[in-house]
Amino acid sequence: MSLSGRTALVTGGGSGLGAAIAAHLTAAGARVVVTGRRAEPLREVAGRLGARAEVCDVADPAAVDALAARLADEEVSILVNNAGVAGPVAPLTEITPDEWDEVFAVNVRGTYLVCRAFLPPMVARGDGDVINLASVSGKRPLARRTPYCASKMAVLGLTSTLAFEVGPAGVRVNALSPGPVEGDRMDRNFRLEAERTATSVDEARAAFVGRAALGRMITADEVGAAIVAMLAMPGMSGADVDLSAGMVA
Ligand SMILES: NC(=O)c1ccc[n+]([C@@H]2O[C@H](COP(=O)([O-])OP(=O)(O)OC[C@H]3O[C@@H](n4cnc5c(N)ncnc54)[C@H](OP(=O)(O)O)[C@@H]3O)[C@@H](O)[C@H]2O)c1
Repeated sequence: MSLSGRTALVTGGGSGLGAAIAAHLTAAGARVVVTGRRAEPLREVAGRLGARAEVCDVADPAAVDALAARLADEEVSILVNNAGVAGPVAPLTEITPDEWDEVFAVNVRGTYLVCRAFLPPMVARGDGDVINLASVSGKRPLARRTPYCASKMAVLGLTSTLAFEVGPAGVRVNALSPGPVEGDRMDRNFRLEAERTATSVDEARAAFVGRAALGRMITADEVGAAIVAMLAMPGMSGADVDLSAGMVA
């Protein structure tokens, strides 16, 4: 699959899954722009991949519109809405309104704002791909994670609705729902869960991973490869692609 001649914008592209997605898109031939709030990780990724780094807070409408203006000549035709925050791990009754709002501001409002700014040129050109990072938690909820799970359910709803709005113009909108990904973020969750349930970190990990049909988590590389594979399916829109090692099987 060659993405040569296409420009991709990856939000949250300075770290984690975003950096892996940026690497896979670059390897497939796309010109890549990575964006996020912190300049340093973006510069590192951009330097390594030969990508363009642009600081932007996706929850800030003015910043997102300014980014779209700066990239007007780039003809972004692949938009990966990956920026996201995990939010608090606590019962709903202990979550503050500010904590709740921050999760929705980035995960849902940010996705909406970036789509709002970057879709019009794609619609005008009659081609483009939007891929929104949802999560298996948007389908198989986790207790003590209400804002995150609810925000990812909202991302799935936004995806399927938007697919119908821009589909007639030839623009595809899909979601990728990863399961838990090997790395620091999950290691931190396992430590918290072990503390909470007075078990060992290994036991907390085994209990969680045992929920997946394949008995394992997925890797950031698999997420990057899945994004490129989704771009090779021009007949797909409004889909929610599960990449959870069978956590919802
Ligand atoms: N890791 C998993 O197990 C997993 C599983 C399923 C789904 N996901 C989803 O996959 C996506 C990436 O997850 P990850 O694990 O790679 O997370 P991560 O390592 O925490 O990275 C999140 C990225 O988003 C950026 N970001 C956060 N708030 C932002 C904002 N307001 N504006 C712009 N950028 C912002 C961060 O950069 P700055 O802080 O510099 O802004 C960072 O680069 C998220 O949507 C997440 O919900 C992750």
